[in-house]
Formats: sequence, C-alpha cells, structure tokens
Amino acid sequence: MAELLIQHIDKIYDNNVQAVYDFNLNVKDGELIVLVGPSGCGKSTTLRMVAGLEDISAGHLILDGRDITKTPAKDRDMAMVFQNYALYGHMTIYENMAFSLTLRKENPNVIHKKVMAAAEILGLTNQLNKKPSQLSGGQRQRVAMGRSIVRNPKVFLFDEPLSNLDAKLRGATRREILLLHKRLQATMMYVTHDQTEALTLADRIVCMSMGHVQQVGTPLELYDKPDNLFVATFIGLPPMNIYETVFEEGMLKGKGFNVPLTDEEKDILKDHVGKKVSLGVRPEDIEEASEGGLPVKVFSNENLGMNTLVHGHLGTADGVRVSAKLRGWTNYKNGDQVYVHFKRKHFFDTETTKAIRKEG
Ligand SMILES: Nc1ncnc2c1ncn2[C@@H]1O[C@H](COP(=O)(O)OP(=O)(O)OP(=O)(O)O)[C@@H](O)[C@H]1O
Ligand SMILES: [Mg+2]
Repeated sequence: MAELLIQHIDKIYDNNVQAVYDFNLNVKDGELIVLVGPSGCGKSTTLRMVAGLEDISAGHLILDGRDITKTPAKDRDMAMVFQNYALYGHMTIYENMAFSLTLRKENPNVIHKKVMAAAEILGLTNQLNKKPSQLSGGQRQRVAMGRSIVRNPKVFLFDEPLSNLDAKLRGATRREILLLHKRLQATMMYVTHDQTEALTLADRIVCMSMGHVQQVGTPLELYDKPDNLFVATFIGLPPMNIYETVFEEGMLKGKGFNVPLTDEEKDILKDHVGKKVSLGVRPEDIEEASEGGLPVKVFSNENLGMNTLVHGHLGTADGVRVSAKLRGWTNYKNGDQVYVHFKRKHFFDTETTKAIRKEG
C-alpha cells in the first residue's frame, strides 16, 4: 500500500528562484503518474522534493497517512532511477543490484533471492557477473531499475530514465517499464519532457509549465479536452494548429479566412460574441473537402505511409500556417490549392488562454 498526498507544495531555491508553485496531487496506490513539461518547468524539482533530495519550502507530503515532509531521503522508503544510471563501475551487475541490501546488512540468502528475482523480471540473469561497462545503455538502465526493485520501496521515482537511449531502445525500454509497473503494481512517479512517453505510460499525466500545474488527467483527457492553450499545444504531435479569430456573425473570423460553425459550436461560444477566440484544430482532425471547404495553399507534402503531413497557408499564400495530417498518400506540390474541412474544433478564450467548452 502506498498512497502519496502532495499538498500545496512550493519550492523556492536559496537564490530566491521559485521553481514550483502550489503543487497538489493525490497519487493513488499503484498509480503511475507522469510529470511532463518543457525544460525548466519544475519537474525534477518536484520529484526531488518527493524523494527528499530537496527541501520542501511550503506544503506537506503525506505517505500512507504519515507526514514525511521533513523526513530524510533514506527513511522515506522510495527509490529513484536517474537518467545517468549512477551505477558503480568497479562492481559487477550482481553487486550493484545487491548494494543497498548489503549496506543494510540483510541476510545474504535473502539478498541472493531478491537479486535473482529482480534479474529474472528484467532479463538480466545472464549479465550478473559483468561490469556495467560491458552492458548496453538499455541494459544499464535495467540494472538501475533492478537496484530499485530489490529494495521493494513504497514509491518508485524516475527522472528521465530513457533520455540517454537511442529512439529504438527508448521505445523498447518504455514498454518494459509499463510491464514492470503492471507486474509490481507499484506506485510510481515518472518525469519526462517527452509527450509520447507521457501519453503511453501514464495512468494520469501532470502537465507543468513554469512551475505551475496546468492540468492533471488521463492521457485521453489531456489530448481530447486540454484545459488551456499550453496543454493543447504541448500534447499532440505535430502540435495543434492555433488560429486567432473573433466570433462574429456566427463564424470565427481570422486573418484571411472565415470558419463556419455548427449550431452546437455557436451555442458553446454564446458568451463570447464579438470577443477574441483562439481556434485549435489538431492536424489529424483536418480532412480534405471537395467543395465548400477552406482553401489551403500547400508548400510541403511529407508522406508518412498511412497518411501525409501537408503544410500550407490558410486562404492565401501569406495566410496563417496550417498543418494537416491527411489520410493516405498524397502528392501535393508547392503552390497547389487544397480544400479542407475541420472535423473537430477546440475553442480557447484568447485573453485567459482557458478552454471554452460545454460543461460535462
Ligand atoms: N539548485 C538550484 N538552484 C537554483 N535554481 C534551480 C536549482 N535547480 C533548478 N533550479 C531552477 O528551477 C527551475 C526548475 O528546474 P527543474 O530542474 O526542476 O526543471 P525540469 O522541469 O526538470 O527541467 P529539465 O527538463 O531541463 O530537466 C529552473 O528554472 C531551474 O533553473
Ligand atoms: Mg529535469
């Protein structure tokens, strides 16, 4: 059992830099939480406060009903896996994995059982007599995870554990972490700046920007119902197209284009007549329209196999940029005219950047 309550936590560093503002989250037992956001947004700081590697400036941290806000790292019953593995080069893989238990003077038979069990889970059984330098990056990262598993901690913490691996290994190791999570049913907090990692791993994502939590929700909630422009453009690849418009005469009027709206969409925007509305359209929510669509002047066509990424300008050649992920294989050339239709629209209040949508 490991339920972690993070209550109104702030971090102000000694040089008066505030890195985290009012971070609030109830991590459920067995949940995999992913903290995601751009470089410098406060992800590592938050994780390190949870781990006890940084002091908490304000707020409380409660683990299974016990206030551990001021508890030293070694007494928190958490294990952290870092980006750079931090293995001991002079020790074998076995010794690396056994290290924390040896330090605790555990019974050697117990240590052996735990190391062998972790090695089995991680597919490291044949590597135990090697030194870290004899292993690949992916294997080293697995050793680092093994070192955490043998300690049987209440909470696993990961800070960008895959970012030193190449793309292929990153995908494979990501799937291993997911299997590991299922198998151990452990409570985990995982930091990454990679939205694909966040979407594929998380039970719930915490999206951060400049020290502030922007949204907490399942991957689908963040993708489908982003609370604000930051989340809308951070989650999703290629990013959501955003257009500055004004809601007038039942249309969204932009620079060189007008977007017609359905009755339902007009209803959602009924309190925003005459106001600035940012229109968000995901590239995958754009389809080709035969007639009556919005004109797009193409400037590039990237075939991806199942679909094609077409970039262009809305309206005229000096219009706003649009990226569309069209179905199938298209061969548009620079200067071609295409007509498109927005299948799904997201609306944001341009002033507050907050989503405008029907409640519920
Ligand atoms: N020891 C420190 N002293 C002062 N400021 C710090 C310290 N560590 C981090 N910061 C600042 O706190 C902010 C958040 O840093 P943090 O390392 O938490 O970001 P991050 O989201 O993990 O970024 P990245 O993706 O680059 O790892 C940054 O502005 C950073 O410069
Ligand atoms: Mg970091």
